Amino acid sequence: QRLPELLRRMPKAELHIHIEGSLEPELIFEMARRNGVAIPYASVEELRRAYAFTNLQSFLDIYYAGASVLITERDFFDMAWAYLEKARGDNVVRAEIFFDPQTHTARGVEMETVINGLHRACEKAQTDLGVSASLILCFLRHLSEEEAFETLEQALPWRDKFIGVGLDSSEVGHPPEKFARVFARCRELGLHLVAHAGEEGPPAYVWTALDLLKVERVDHGVQSSKDPQLMRRLAQDRIPLTVCPLSNLKLCVFPKLQDHNLRQLLDAGLMATVNSDDPAYFGGYVNDNFLQTFEATGLSAQQAWQLANNSFEASFIPAQEKRKYR
Ligand code: HPA
Ligand code: ZN
Repeated sequence: QRLPELLRRMPKAELHIHIEGSLEPELIFEMARRNGVAIPYASVEELRRAYAFTNLQSFLDIYYAGASVLITERDFFDMAWAYLEKARGDNVVRAEIFFDPQTHTARGVEMETVINGLHRACEKAQTDLGVSASLILCFLRHLSEEEAFETLEQALPWRDKFIGVGLDSSEVGHPPEKFARVFARCRELGLHLVAHAGEEGPPAYVWTALDLLKVERVDHGVQSSKDPQLMRRLAQDRIPLTVCPLSNLKLCVFPKLQDHNLRQLLDAGLMATVNSDDPAYFGGYVNDNFLQTFEATGLSAQQAWQLANNSFEASFIPAQEKRKYR
């Protein structure tokens, strides 16, 4: 079997996808039109041309601008449904989807509107596509811990519609420990815990995500390879890293895809997975990430199998259900 065919066809779980980052320019223009929201770009093409990033912040500025067209429950449903159909096409059978409620509640959109729209799409994915999908609420780390607590309070009436919490947005200057108390509260509530760490930030942020936030997975985590002791800890405790190669390329974390350290992470025995992060902005969905990374770095069929297996192992599906994916 040809390797690209294997990569495309193997069942996989996607564990690092920001639903607002799946909003394609065409849908941004459509929603801007139907909601009467002004956007500072004349056309889909002009918007796409603005997707030239130099670092995380340069991306986040345009990503939050794009999300400003989301107003109604239908908008949130349509965005998530478009992603889930793409995921089905990539043979994603399980998706754990991040959403950023503060990006919307700050504009006057109700928490209920956000969660219900996204959750309806997840339910429909199970019945119509056979894709199992769950939501993970992310706190914006450039905002305060107090605001994270308020967001948690607003979301708790819909506690049964999300499985965990995460931490995203501008990393450097906003270390995990800033959110230690709210994560402790989420832990008491039985929520799964993840956090972005070691995307642009130092290995120290991965250490505090593990030891102070007690996260079960680290999102990105690629900077960990700078700290041999941290690499041993991640391997020994089987902490999954949700790696996003095309994101790292587009945000200049690595100068070229050939320079990506995915192979190094696997060789060190880490439970790395491959994911798309913000596919509408970074030039590809999960299969594009697999295909381009394998092409650039010469990973093998054995490593493809390992990555697919890792994605299920690292997922939050119940242990007895995991067996059917092995
Ligand atoms: N890093 C931090 N915050 C984000 C990202 C990311 O890659 N994508 C969307 N929000
Ligand atoms: Zn991310």
